[in-house]
Amino acid sequence: MVRVLGIETSCDETGIAIYDSELGLLADQLHSQIKLHNEYGGVVPELASRDHIRRISPLIKETLKEGHCKFSDLSAIAYTAGPGLAGALLVGASVAEALAFALSIPALPIHHLEGHLLSPCLSPVPPSFPFVALLVSGGHSQFMRVNRPGSYEILGESVDDAAGEAFDKTAKLLGLPYPGGPHIAKLAASGNPKRFHFPRPMIHSGDLMMSFSGLKTAVSLVVAQHHPVDYADIAASFEAAIVDTLCSKALQALDQTGLKQLVIAGGVGANLKLREKLSETIKAHGGEVFYPPLRLCTDNGAMIAFAGAQKLLMHQKPVTSSTFSVFPRWDLQAYSTTYQD
Ligand code: KG4
Ligand code: ZN
Repeated sequence: MVRVLGIETSCDETGIAIYDSELGLLADQLHSQIKLHNEYGGVVPELASRDHIRRISPLIKETLKEGHCKFSDLSAIAYTAGPGLAGALLVGASVAEALAFALSIPALPIHHLEGHLLSPCLSPVPPSFPFVALLVSGGHSQFMRVNRPGSYEILGESVDDAAGEAFDKTAKLLGLPYPGGPHIAKLAASGNPKRFHFPRPMIHSGDLMMSFSGLKTAVSLVVAQHHPVDYADIAASFEAAIVDTLCSKALQALDQTGLKQLVIAGGVGANLKLREKLSETIKAHGGEVFYPPLRLCTDNGAMIAFAGAQKLLMHQKPVTSSTFSVFPRWDLQAYSTTYQD
């Protein structure tokens, strides 16, 4: 049995959780900075770091209380070491490393995307390995083949904006607050998705590459020619273009790999239209779609605690233990050299 405290501070959410390999998730606390950054239209890195500093210790105490745990019950402290905002990552990394040192237990640096990729394993009905993961967040749109924890292959990705970024930028064009995804979805619910035909970029490219920056340009042209009364139709038509593109590529990803299970991870995975259409499309082709619970789609400490527990269960240790670094830009390939058996 292992019990891991997970710390996530890569962007604008302080997430702390405790995962127990036998009992599951014991506690999961989150403090979102959305309100703090709202008036700036995006995340202000320095404000994010300062808020993580303010929140992290009280939140760790709260998490231990929720999980009825003591520090001495923990087997390791896992933390997001990258990618993300350097200052924000450093808050989580230094607290995790200091705690682990004081408790004489391992500190486990975790790749943020690995957290997202494994988060569906925390669902009541988890997928089994191997599966295809569609990771759609504010910074990434990628198809990955997940063979087992720690073994990932990129099948295709966006050549420019991430899907979440497209939601955020389109929201800005429509005068909606950050982060744009949930606001676009809400507005789109009362709009006509067929009124405007936005491009389905690279849908016939024959591979799993995607592109979303042209979509934002197409939306900006339509916005310039219309009035706020048309914005719900624009939001619905935009959402439909993203959903269609992701569904078509997802189907292709399963065809290409011969796998049957598709797992959705990352913030855009919270989009209900995407969930509906993906389930429908994939089921119709004999596949199965897995979603993490909604609250685990966006950034959280639970996925980091879970990923850390997998490292311990596989007897993997970080290569360096006396120093630590954070990696604002970090690919999964480079991450794989961080651990040894
Ligand atoms: O994974 P995440 O919480 O953070 C990282 O980027 O790592 O993803 C945040 C992204 C934002 O771009 C946000 O607009 C998008 O997820 N998002 C949504 C929805 N909820 C969050 N996009 C579409 N529909 C939603 N319901
Ligand atoms: Zn994320």
